Parts: sequence; C-alpha cells; structure tokens
Amino acid sequence: MIIESIVSTVDREKKVNLAPMGVLWGEEVLVIKPYKDTTTYRNLIATKEGVVNVTDNVLIFAKSALSDVQFPHFPASHVEGVVLEDACYYYEVVASKIDVGEERAKISCEVVGRGWLRDFLGFNRGKNAVIEAAILATRLRFYERQEVLAKFQCYEEIVAKTGGKQEKEAMRYLMDYLKGWPLDDKN
Ligand SMILES: Cc1cc2nc3c(=O)[nH]c(=O)nc-3n(C[C@H](O)[C@H](O)[C@H](O)COP(=O)(O)O)c2cc1C
Repeated sequence: MIIESIVSTVDREKKVNLAPMGVLWGEEVLVIKPYKDTTTYRNLIATKEGVVNVTDNVLIFAKSALSDVQFPHFPASHVEGVVLEDACYYYEVVASKIDVGEERAKISCEVVGRGWLRDFLGFNRGKNAVIEAAILATRLRFYERQEVLAKFQCYEEIVAKTGGKQEKEAMRYLMDYLKGWPLDDKN
C-alpha cells in the first residue's frame, strides 16, 4: 500500500527540502519513488537519509508540492533530516538499496528511528480532494486543459462542501497556482 507522506531531506549544505511522496509502506522497509528531476531524489542519492512524515495537514501537501516554502520542524535524532512539527508520526530512514530506473528511482529505505507526535485526525472528502488536486497540479503538463479544469472544479466543490479552514486555504493556493500556469497549445 502507498501512504501519501511528506519526505524531508537535506542537501550537502544542510538545506532542508520538503516534498510530498507516495511511499510504499512496509514494517521495516519503506520504498520512496522520486522522479529523477526532483530535489528529493538528488538529496537521497547524495546523503542516503531522510524522514518520512505522516500528517493529515493537507496545506503542507499543497504548498510543499509546488514551492520551497518551509514549515516548522526540528532535527531528527538518527539521520540528517527534519521532523515536521505537525507530523502525526514519522520514520527516520536510511537508503539501503537504490534502483535508479529511467525516469523514476526506487529507493528502498531501512527504518532507523521513529516517533509519534499526535493522533491522526482522519481524512475526509475535502482532505482527499486537496491531495488529488495537489498531485494533479504537479502533473499539469500531462493533461488537456479541459480535463484539468473539470477535475479542479470537482475538487473545489468537494472542499467547499466538506472542508475546513485548512482545506479551503490549500485549495485556494492550488487554484492560484493553476491560474498562473502558462497554458500552451496542447492545453
Ligand atoms: C500526494 C502526492 C504524492 C506525490 N508522490 C510523488 C512520488 O511518489 N514521487 C515523485 O517524484 N513525486 C511525487 N509527487 C510530486 C512531488 O511532490 C513534486 O514533484 C515536488 O515538487 C517534488 O519536490 P522536490 O523537487 O522538492 O523533491 C507527489 C505529490 C503529491 C501531492
């Protein structure tokens, strides 16, 4: 099963990077599958370490998917990496096997530390819709304009009906991003 997580990594200069990643979940081994043009990929290859943060805060998913914005965090105990203050729980990981692949790597990671900060509130349709919209926002280049607009309209309606303040802010952020997207002929 894949769990949508926020993976934190650092580069050689210790600059922190946060990015949502779908992580293939196992008891002892987690598999992160970053595209090779991501900072997460470059950092994991360089340092072999990171933290897989599990959170129900969808604003972090929306913003960290599309920008370099930072969220409050503290240093991990066993690896070079950071734990999100708003993580529910987190796994500190070390890459043990790297399959570089063509476009997307498969990085198997051993869990070397873990922690719990708060209960997972749970997901509702609004939170799910933000997650779907955030993924779509990172893949706009693969879709036709009409398809993107139709999907966003649907996600927006779900968030309007079932979301709270956080989900609405996240959706607004994603809509603003969409408005700034240069639509070419394909779209
Ligand atoms: C819920 C969610 C899951 C994602 N899963 C992945 C993934 O497994 N691999 C990947 O390369 N990108 C994934 N993305 C897209 C990346 O988060 C996005 O490309 C991001 O800009 C990469 O950031 P980075 O360059 O700072 O590492 C996902 C996005 C979302 C919203």
